[in-house]
Amino acid sequence: MTLLAGKVALVTGAASGIGRATAHALTREGATVVIADRDATHGPIVVGMLNDTGGQALFVHADVTRDAVAMVDASVAHFGRLDILVNNAGIFYPADLLDIAFDEWMRAVDVMYLGTFRCSQAAARQMVRQGDGGRIVNISSVNAFLGMAQSSHYNSAKGAIDQLTRCMAVELAPHGILVNSVAPGFVETPMAVVNGVNEHETPEFQEFYVRRRRIPLARPAMPEEIAEAVLFLASPRTTYITGHTLVVDGGLTITF
Ligand SMILES: NC(=O)c1ccc[n+]([C@@H]2O[C@H](COP(=O)([O-])OP(=O)(O)OC[C@H]3O[C@@H](n4cnc5c(N)ncnc54)[C@H](O)[C@@H]3O)[C@@H](O)[C@H]2O)c1
Repeated sequence: MTLLAGKVALVTGAASGIGRATAHALTREGATVVIADRDATHGPIVVGMLNDTGGQALFVHADVTRDAVAMVDASVAHFGRLDILVNNAGIFYPADLLDIAFDEWMRAVDVMYLGTFRCSQAAARQMVRQGDGGRIVNISSVNAFLGMAQSSHYNSAKGAIDQLTRCMAVELAPHGILVNSVAPGFVETPMAVVNGVNEHETPEFQEFYVRRRRIPLARPAMPEEIAEAVLFLASPRTTYITGHTLVVDGGLTITF
């Protein structure tokens, strides 16, 4: 399909999970995709798969905490422009508020919140130079607006991403750059594995979220289902949505 023909997209954290599925969805719609990830093992494998299916993809070994400008520069150097940025790179590790060291708390903020700021600023500067608009999609989480034990660092970073989304949407609107976020619920990716255990497979998860339908759709999402929402917000199909957080959670947050 050709919804994104001629568009160049940069997806951070696309060596795995939601980012990888997003790279596939963008490629399927004709975009050229730059995968920026600190994982130098899986990133090139994803690029190989995209190129094998007729796509045009590039891997940039990059960390969102320090290489934002370099990844935008690489996109422009190889493909001449940048039209879409997906801020997806993320990390999760449980930690008690009373015990967590400052640097550990800041690590989540640095990767997800400040990483989103750094990459968005670098990408938006390029889009403004080009003069014909663009799309920025930030991967937030339902954790952005929910409280949760052992997750003050992660949830705070995600909440800040949604607020940054709204502020960037206002400032970049005059340049035709639409900025939105996608807030997934539970998604079947390597991030769901904490201390070697897939939390979606535990008896507690299955009983509470699935059997008793705390998630009305009674299952975690597959990464491809999140990618479709990202694709929509990254595409020219959206011309009047900006500053919005699109919740994709199977109904998790409409129940109590
Ligand atoms: N899996 C879920 O249930 C879930 C739910 C809500 C939101 N999210 C969010 O979705 C996004 C993607 O997560 P996922 O579930 O696909 O996880 P994942 O672990 O499968 O993928 C995360 C990717 O980000 C990369 N990454 C991490 N730190 C980086 C850095 N500093 N620089 C560059 N790349 C970096 C990793 O190498 C990895 O490839 C994250 O922002 C996460 O917080 C996930």
